Amino acid sequence: RQTGLTALDYGFVNTSSTRSAITYIDGEQGILRYRGYPIEELAEHSTYLEVAWLLMYGELPTADQLGEFDEKIRRHTLLHEDLKRFFSALPHTAHPMAVLSSAVAALSTYYEDSSDPHDPDHVELTTIRLLAKMPVIAAYAHKKSIGQAFLYPDNSLNFVENFLRLNFGNMAEPYHIDPTLAKALDRLLILHEDHEQNASTSTVRLVGSTGANLYASISAGIQALSGPLHGGANEAVLQMLAQIRDSGEGVGKFVERVKRKEDGVKLMGFGHRVYKNYDPRAKIVKTSADAVLEGLGVNDPLLDIAKELEQFALEDDYFKQRRLYPNVDFYTGVIYKAMGFPTRMFTVLFAIGRLPGWIAHWREMNLDGGTKIGRPQQLYTGSPERHYPMH
Ligand code: CMC
Repeated sequence: RQTGLTALDYGFVNTSSTRSAITYIDGEQGILRYRGYPIEELAEHSTYLEVAWLLMYGELPTADQLGEFDEKIRRHTLLHEDLKRFFSALPHTAHPMAVLSSAVAALSTYYEDSSDPHDPDHVELTTIRLLAKMPVIAAYAHKKSIGQAFLYPDNSLNFVENFLRLNFGNMAEPYHIDPTLAKALDRLLILHEDHEQNASTSTVRLVGSTGANLYASISAGIQALSGPLHGGANEAVLQMLAQIRDSGEGVGKFVERVKRKEDGVKLMGFGHRVYKNYDPRAKIVKTSADAVLEGLGVNDPLLDIAKELEQFALEDDYFKQRRLYPNVDFYTGVIYKAMGFPTRMFTVLFAIGRLPGWIAHWREMNLDGGTKIGRPQQLYTGSPERHYPMH
């Protein structure tokens, strides 16, 4: 088991780490299916919770199963009052992704006696708790950042409606749900629900493979997602678009800087390890961006810059040769912004979207597949044996 016996595969470009029956991707043809169902059909006709069930249990739920699942999640939305005080210990400037990850890790301290990763009942309960409480934590991270009071969840509302109210409602007046907004957010969440062995899902699996509980694994997944090459790209895209607008340098000059790799600048929201054609999620997001902004009565010049940038890049040899196309993160930020979310919440929305996928993979590994601890090999390049100097 030493040098020479392992293949070196930086970034796991050619190595499968597992078998999985959850999500199918064909990067050449731009195909994405959850449990066999095309993403386009699910985005059009399903809901976040129905897709969550599909991912975790393998089949679409019956109406009764979905109703029971929804009901259970509604019953678990409250956070322990002590956990709510946890937010006060963090600065209001804290990035909501850091708050989310920390608070999800902290959740486990309240449920130590019911989070055994090898007990299917515990896993079931933890699954429900995470789906119910993570959106509440996310909304509180948002409220904390803008100095507003936390609202209690309203369990008469559905998953997305409740989340919107927790983010945008306040104590002083009733919050009116905008159905266009709720539908659009539900659709975006569906698009993010799973994406097979991406960096954060692989992290969740790796942490879970050690026998750590689901809270710990999801907390680690959130941290992995926060990076700008992964989920953090949606935040970075908006910063990039705003910078192009504010600097007045124009799309053409910006693209030239990207091509020169000046200061490592990249076209954020472009490129993908697997999709070498077009990210099918990006296609759906792009087509809904105009409709959603119009439905919300928002006219954002950043959307025009994004479209111009895409057009410019798609016609440019640098991007064509490297097969770089818009990914899911390219247009989502403009929509989240129109919905009223601050830029720093964008990746948190991605995390809520991805949660069912993370759980599905963790469950597939721990409950169905039997765990083998994840332990990559290395090729040692250091010093040969040498001896501590005896003075
Ligand atoms: N802008 C400019 N050049 C790029 C970009 C980009 N966005 N992406 C890749 N390239 C270039 C890269 O510099 C390299 O060029 P060269 O051959 O001259 O060295 C070539 O294209 C191949 O790129 P790579 O870095 O080897 O590709 P990868 O598969 O390792 O990385 C990626 C994939 C998504 C990390 C990368 O495309 C990237 O950094 N994109 C921008 C960040 C982003 O949008 N991330 C979100 C990904 S999708 C949602 C998610 O997973 O969270």
